[in-house]
Amino acid sequence: MKATTTTTTSAPAHNSMPPPSAPSAGRSSRIAPHSHIKGLGLTPEGLAITDSAGFIGQTNAREACGVIVDLIKSRKFSGRALLLVGAPGTGKTALALAISQELGVKVPFCPMVGSEVYSVEVKKTEVLAEVFRRAIGLRIKETKEVYEGEVTELTPTEAENPLSGYGKTVAHVVVGLKTVKGTKQLRLDPTIYEAILKEKIVVGDVIYVEANTGAVKRVGRSDAYASSYDLESETYVPLPKGDVHKRKELVQDVTLGDLDAANARPQGGQDIMSVMGSLVKTGRTEVTDKLRREVNKVVKGYVDQGVAEVVPGVVFIDEVHVLDIESFTYLNSLLESSMAPTVILATNRGNALVRNTTDIIAPHGIPRDLLDRCMIVKTDGYGREQISKVAQLRANVEGLKLGPGVVERLATEGEKSSLRYALQLLTPASILAQLAGRNQIEMEDIGEMNELFLDAKTSASMIEAGGFADGL
Ligand SMILES: Nc1ncnc2c1ncn2[C@@H]1O[C@H](COP(=O)(O)OP(=O)(O)OP(=O)(O)O)[C@@H](O)[C@H]1O
Ligand SMILES: [Mg+2]
Repeated sequence: MKATTTTTTSAPAHNSMPPPSAPSAGRSSRIAPHSHIKGLGLTPEGLAITDSAGFIGQTNAREACGVIVDLIKSRKFSGRALLLVGAPGTGKTALALAISQELGVKVPFCPMVGSEVYSVEVKKTEVLAEVFRRAIGLRIKETKEVYEGEVTELTPTEAENPLSGYGKTVAHVVVGLKTVKGTKQLRLDPTIYEAILKEKIVVGDVIYVEANTGAVKRVGRSDAYASSYDLESETYVPLPKGDVHKRKELVQDVTLGDLDAANARPQGGQDIMSVMGSLVKTGRTEVTDKLRREVNKVVKGYVDQGVAEVVPGVVFIDEVHVLDIESFTYLNSLLESSMAPTVILATNRGNALVRNTTDIIAPHGIPRDLLDRCMIVKTDGYGREQISKVAQLRANVEGLKLGPGVVERLATEGEKSSLRYALQLLTPASILAQLAGRNQIEMEDIGEMNELFLDAKTSASMIEAGGFADGL
């Protein structure tokens, strides 16, 4: 990359998206135990199909959530929140995820756990505000003049570097592009070469270059190079039709959270994120309420012009009872704001003291004024049959084989403690099976698990019975 540093343009590379917001990394791990859930599994009339989309039973709650999805889709749910209540491990988190799946893939889903507001560096209200901003999507449509095609040639032309005695610099880069209709050779600026390197573009990729800005985007790998693997991360796209030089409608999904962050750390450049990142003329700063208001103003302008469309997403706050009175008050005001996402809360508490108060005991530990805005859906406990079905489903998803009687045994364990406990036995039991040189979980593995570990109820009853003599 040395070659490019001495050219006249010192602007940062194109296409530099803001760094992914930190919680997104946590997201996948939080969703992994629910990977079998594909939606609410309802008929078009909104009735729950007993076992469908990975959901077993829980029909009432699923149908109720279906109604909520309809309300959200017809934009009649604003200013309200959905509260999921029920015992631990009864599928509240799974339901929230299923609702977001029903709303569509491009709808932002931002899960968090109540305790995330307690951080040393960031104010509680700030954590909530940020999640709410990340849950508002913006779809930006523009028609742009582009050069698009499959890369047939990629040749940087080097020249002596006039400024330093060392090395050479890229004077320009020649890119050949091919479509169904024809081919074209472009001579491009060295900054674009930098972008090409950054996007890891090689011959055989389908790309487009925006004519006005020089922003480069990789669309995928050309079909012609498709290999015969069943599974791989590459996306293959057909050879583009039409001319290489044409007008193309570009759609980009960003969130208000992205725009806030980009505007707080403007970085120059000409791709859409950088342009959107200089909506507000500020220096380097924190994301403040003032900045958010200014971003809102510009976004509103774009929406009015029809350039952008707001896609409200979902904020999911699990274990909502750990929020304190200050956070709840702020949550109320966020719900009231004009650009609010859908809010789903979940808790497994009954009556509880609202945190940071001395005397407010409220249902689910949630103050009355917020409860009044909530539609409450209760999840039911599971029976033996349902637990064994979910266990079997999880075993299939995790690729584990179960020996005779194992499912029944897991169901018994689940009945004794909870569905979650039964499911959690699966992975360690599979390790025990592996250690014993088998690829199938047998009864003895579950038995050994029970010798090594306690379930919550047994543990608690042992304490009560004085089982731990050391003063616990
Ligand atoms: N009806 C169901 N069908 C299929 N899988 C389910 C069902 N209910 C729960 N599960 C699965 O069981 C596990 C525990 O459920 P989940 O985490 O949703 O419970 P929860 O109600 O959120 O519990 P907690 O109160 O402890 O947060 C998850 O892996 C979930 O996907
Ligand atoms: Mg949960």
